[in-house]
Amino acid sequence: MSLALREMWAKGAPAFDGHERVVLAEHPESGLRAIIALHNTSRGPAFGGCRMRPYRDLAEALDDALRLSRAMTYKSAICELPFGGGKAVIVGDPRTDKTPALLHAMGRVVDALAGAFLVAEDLGTSLRDMAAMRAVSAHVRGVADADGAPTPATAYGVFMALKAALAHRFGTADIAGRTVAVQGLGSVGARLCGYLAAAGATLVVADIDPAAVARVVAKHPARPVDPDSIIAVPADVFAPCALGGVIDRRAVARLGAPIVVGAANNQLAAPELAEQLADAGIVWVPDYLANAGGVIDVAHEGPGYDPRAVLAACERLYDITGHVLDRAAAEGATPSRIADRLAEQRFTRAPRRRVA
Ligand code: NAI
Repeated sequence: MSLALREMWAKGAPAFDGHERVVLAEHPESGLRAIIALHNTSRGPAFGGCRMRPYRDLAEALDDALRLSRAMTYKSAICELPFGGGKAVIVGDPRTDKTPALLHAMGRVVDALAGAFLVAEDLGTSLRDMAAMRAVSAHVRGVADADGAPTPATAYGVFMALKAALAHRFGTADIAGRTVAVQGLGSVGARLCGYLAAAGATLVVADIDPAAVARVVAKHPARPVDPDSIIAVPADVFAPCALGGVIDRRAVARLGAPIVVGAANNQLAAPELAEQLADAGIVWVPDYLANAGGVIDVAHEGPGYDPRAVLAACERLYDITGHVLDRAAAEGATPSRIADRLAEQRFTRAPRRRVA
């Protein structure tokens, strides 16, 4: 058997949100089983990462693909980038199932979508994997900069959003003397620490990997704390740059900072946490806005790619974040509601087909 792509019936899935297309791709020879969800392409080709995880079943993989592709539409739209939202998820363990044959087959899947979907790396896939897929398809992105591709832009974008949140909350974006608690010192968190230290912030940091902590502490004056207590450290800003789901009901009560802004995706354990944060007087910058620098980077890819131009473009996140937070305060709405509304004004949905 060879590569088979077929449309998937996703309308009954809880996370379905008028997605334009959902495709199931299978290639038994390489063990590839993947779902590609294209949420919306009204602004341009659907852009999104290719995630590989040992999902329990196809339903769990579909849920991830539907949710993440929708978030990509909102992220690109709020930044007015020429992209829609998409996501690919491969069912499998990246440590044992990721073979050259599987990546080759995935590259063919991307190519078969003929430019409707632009893919980049994500959890469980790497820049090297993208290079392998790029050998098969021109529609692979996120490989422009040998130094970690979109990550520097993501960190700088978070820094911009953080400054906007400070300006909103305290009337000044000045970072000197502010305390920032950074959770997760990987590619983004470590770079964010660099920007913050250079601007005069007091850093409190945590990571479950002692080596990551050691690297940051060797470079910047930073006080390491236990990963379990970083969220409760008294600070001006809590910056989640590790995993998603860190803000749950208990976390809202424990938070030691009046501002939450960071790179992690899906920071809220449930959507209603946005209201609970607002009720507790905590300013939360929606994650898809704070971490949009990576997509801004991808939008600049191609001949003449200039990392300095990318960072300059990321400075727009200061204005967008400030606008979202100010409007939220003026209207008594949550920042996520305002951000969603702003994004929704910038993409259109295909008219629903009538069922006869
Ligand atoms: P990374 O994998 O390089 O770093 C994550 C760090 O978090 C690791 O050092 C890990 O040890 C640490 N960590 C994991 N669990 C932790 C815990 N419970 N407490 C403290 N530290 C913990 O990932 P990267 O690229 O820095 O991304 C960080 C977050 O930002 C992720 O959620 C990612 O999805 C998101 N993001 C990243 C983008 C990028 O351009 N790299 C773009 C958009 C979002």
